[in-house]
Amino acid sequence: MGRLDDRVAVVTGAGRGIGREIALMMAAEGASVVVNDLGANTDGTGTTNIADDVVEEIRAAGGSAVANTASVAEVSGGESLLQTALDNFGGMDILVNNAGILRDKTIFNMEEADWDAVLAVHLKGHYCCSRPFARYLRESGRQNGRIINFSSVSGLFGNFGQANYGAAKAGIAGFSRVLAIELRKYGCTVNTISPGALTRMTIPLRENRGETVEQEDIDAGGPQHIAPIVVWLASDAGKGITSEIFHAARGGVAIMQQPRIIKSFRKSTGMWQLDELDDVVPQLVEAKAANIEAADRDGVSVEV
Ligand SMILES: NC(=O)c1ccc[n+]([C@@H]2O[C@H](COP(=O)([O-])OP(=O)(O)OC[C@H]3O[C@@H](n4cnc5c(N)ncnc54)[C@H](O)[C@@H]3O)[C@@H](O)[C@H]2O)c1
Repeated sequence: MGRLDDRVAVVTGAGRGIGREIALMMAAEGASVVVNDLGANTDGTGTTNIADDVVEEIRAAGGSAVANTASVAEVSGGESLLQTALDNFGGMDILVNNAGILRDKTIFNMEEADWDAVLAVHLKGHYCCSRPFARYLRESGRQNGRIINFSSVSGLFGNFGQANYGAAKAGIAGFSRVLAIELRKYGCTVNTISPGALTRMTIPLRENRGETVEQEDIDAGGPQHIAPIVVWLASDAGKGITSEIFHAARGGVAIMQQPRIIKSFRKSTGMWQLDELDDVVPQLVEAKAANIEAADRDGVSVEV
C-alpha cells in the first residue's frame, strides 16, 4: 500500500532536480504521474526531451507515468497538463507547480526580456496550470485535491540580484493564499514550499563562490530532500492543512510565518499628524524587531 495509491499527480519541471525527485517518490507511493518538462536551460532557453527519461525510470521501477513537454508559461500548456492526466489516467488529484528558471541580474542591468521570462514561467506558470485544475475540481466534484506551489527565500526574505525571481516567488506565496481560500469549499488544499537544494540551478552559485560540490554534498543537500514533505502534503495525511508555507532543505523541515499585523495604533479622531508618527513608527519597528527575534529563537531546528 502506497500513500498515493489511486491518485493522479501532475508535476511540472519534473525532468530533473526537485521536480524529478517528487515525481519519482509520488510514483513509488502509488500515484500515476504526468511528468511535465520542456527541457529548458536554466535561463529558460532551449528544449530537450528529458521528461521521457523520468517516465522510463518510473516505469522501470514498476510505476505508472506519462510525459508532457508543454511549457507551463502558456495557457495551452497548462490546459494540456490536465488533458494528459484525463486522457491517460482518467482524472487529476494533485498539481505540483515546480517548473522554474533563473535570469539573475541587478535592477540596473535587468532587461525587460529577463523580467518577462522569469515572471512568465514562475508566476504566470502557476496561473496557467492551476486554473484548468481548479475548474476541473469544481466541475467534477472530485474531492481531496492538492496544489503544491514553489516559492523561494528569494521572494520571502529577499535576495540580491533577483528582483524578477523574487517578485515572482513572492507573488506565488500571495497566489497560494488566495487559491487556498477559493478552493477550500471544493476540498482542495493549497500550500507553498520554500526549498533549498543543490541542483543545476544552485550549484553554479556555489561554484562561483569558489566552492566545489562533491557527491557527499549532494547526499546531504540534494533535491531528494524536498520530496518527502511534498508527498506528505499530497497524501491523506495532509488533509485540512492549507495556506501554509513549508521550508525544506538539507534534512530540515520548517513552517514559516504568514504576514500578520504585529502591533497597531488607531487614532480615535482625525488623521495622523507627522509629529505623532515620529513617536509611533519607531514603536512599530521595535515591535517588529522583537517579533523577528522571537521567531528566530523559536525557529532553531530541533534535532530528531
Ligand atoms: N534548488 C533550490 O535551492 C531552489 C531554491 C528555491 C526555489 N527553488 C524552486 O524550486 C523549483 C525547482 O528548482 P530546481 O532547483 O529543481 O531547478 P532545475 O533547473 O533543476 O529544474 C527546473 C526544471 O523546470 C523546467 N522548466 C523550465 N521552464 C519550464 C517551462 N516553461 N515549462 C515546463 N518546464 C520548465 C526545466 O527544464 C527544468 O528541468 C523551481 O521553481 C525553483 O525556482 C529551488
